[in-house]
Amino acid sequence: MLNQMLTKDYIRNLKNNGNGAIGHLVKEYQDSSSLIFILENLGQLPKSFDGSFLPELLLHKNSTVRFWVVKTIGKLGDEDFLPILKKVALNDSDTNVRREAVSSIGRMRTKKGQSVLLEVLQDHDPKIVCQAIRGLLVFKGDDKVDNILKPLLNHENEMVRSVIYKEYFANQKDKYQQPHSESYNYLKNVVVNADTLEVMKLLKDESIHLTFTSPPYYNARDYSIYPSYQSYLKFLEDVFAEVYRITKEGRFLILNTSPIIIPRISRAHSSKRYPIPFDIHPYLIEMGWEFIDDIVWMKPEASVKNRIGGFQQHRKPLAYKPNSVTEYLMVYRKSTEKLLDWNIHQYDWQTVQESKVPEGYETTNVWKIDPCFDKVHSAVFPVELCKRVIQYYSYKGDVVFDPFAGSGTVGKTAKSLGRFFFLTEKDETYFNYMKSKKSTKMFDTFETRFLILK
Ligand SMILES: C[S@@+](CC[C@H](N)C(=O)[O-])C[C@H]1O[C@@H](n2cnc3c(N)ncnc32)[C@H](O)[C@@H]1O
Repeated sequence: MLNQMLTKDYIRNLKNNGNGAIGHLVKEYQDSSSLIFILENLGQLPKSFDGSFLPELLLHKNSTVRFWVVKTIGKLGDEDFLPILKKVALNDSDTNVRREAVSSIGRMRTKKGQSVLLEVLQDHDPKIVCQAIRGLLVFKGDDKVDNILKPLLNHENEMVRSVIYKEYFANQKDKYQQPHSESYNYLKNVVVNADTLEVMKLLKDESIHLTFTSPPYYNARDYSIYPSYQSYLKFLEDVFAEVYRITKEGRFLILNTSPIIIPRISRAHSSKRYPIPFDIHPYLIEMGWEFIDDIVWMKPEASVKNRIGGFQQHRKPLAYKPNSVTEYLMVYRKSTEKLLDWNIHQYDWQTVQESKVPEGYETTNVWKIDPCFDKVHSAVFPVELCKRVIQYYSYKGDVVFDPFAGSGTVGKTAKSLGRFFFLTEKDETYFNYMKSKKSTKMFDTFETRFLILK
């Protein structure tokens, strides 16, 4: 009988009747789901609303009920409830309820509320601290508030630091800078035969839209000999710090690497495995790249080196060596306080339409793609791999960069997808190989230029 009465319309009518009618109704329904239903459907509250029944419900054992009670108290905007909200904000056992209490205090926008929010800044939960900051930012410009918020730039939590940075310290970009979607002509469809570090030094800040690359694998091939693993990592660190500088705000770096194995020198020694993607990752984060995704490139087992053979014979635990059929595509974004929408809004409608990713795109982070073999270069990207990366992470007309171009697969694919490319390759043989492909007519307006550094 009671349940039949409990409809949204019934609740709305009752709340407008005044006289504490909702308070009476609540007394009749003590179970959690009915209480939640009532509170959830109150909507905006009339000025005359009697909320005196609410504080008692803050003792309810169900946290969703308490959440809705706090939300309802918040709607009243009545400073008399401030001490109660403060108590919930500091002491409730559920973080969502505490957060809602802080949010309700913030929405009051009062001086008394302000001093509670300042107290909440000491909370151990960063989400609660961020909520308090949000409430306090209403008073941005007030010396007292600014002087307390700004030092939170050194807060131990990264979310807190990032909010404060965005609000108080993010420098306004030079308004004369190049528009985001545009790029310099000197970067369009160019292949340079030189050490990539030497070339990047000559490029302007924020001039590349996307970098997709596979760096030389430490001492695994002739073109990648380094005196030590540490010096190899240092080299990559230098390269990706420069890539960071020349990448446009909020744009992506997709880095293809995998652990490698250096064979043993004799049967008396063991081979050594180097986890390149995991070792380079902390350097990238430290220099400001934001980690976005890990995509696994999976190859058919028949296409990779057989390591499991020995184990298949003896089956002795500890000597298990699976065939490595995967490589990583680690996806990073140049750090920015702007959302992806900001990047997307830099393009005109037509470019956005024309760049839309066609049907049949990959929906998981496991990309099953056959490797590719080339008669000149020993480690080329499959075109399909480049195609996906370029389609998913760039717009038509963007400049796509590969600092370690090899046979130029990134350039060739970028061109076929209506993007421009900028490639560097140190090895003259591979440079000449790219040149020999005679695919110079890349765009109507831009032919490919093959340059040496001087
Ligand atoms: C793994 S291969 C890239 C292959 C390429 N993804 C492709 O599809 O052909 C790495 C390339 O980086 C080049 N390289 C190594 N050190 C370099 C440097 N300091 N500057 C420019 N290129 C370099 C090597 O010669 C090699 O061709």
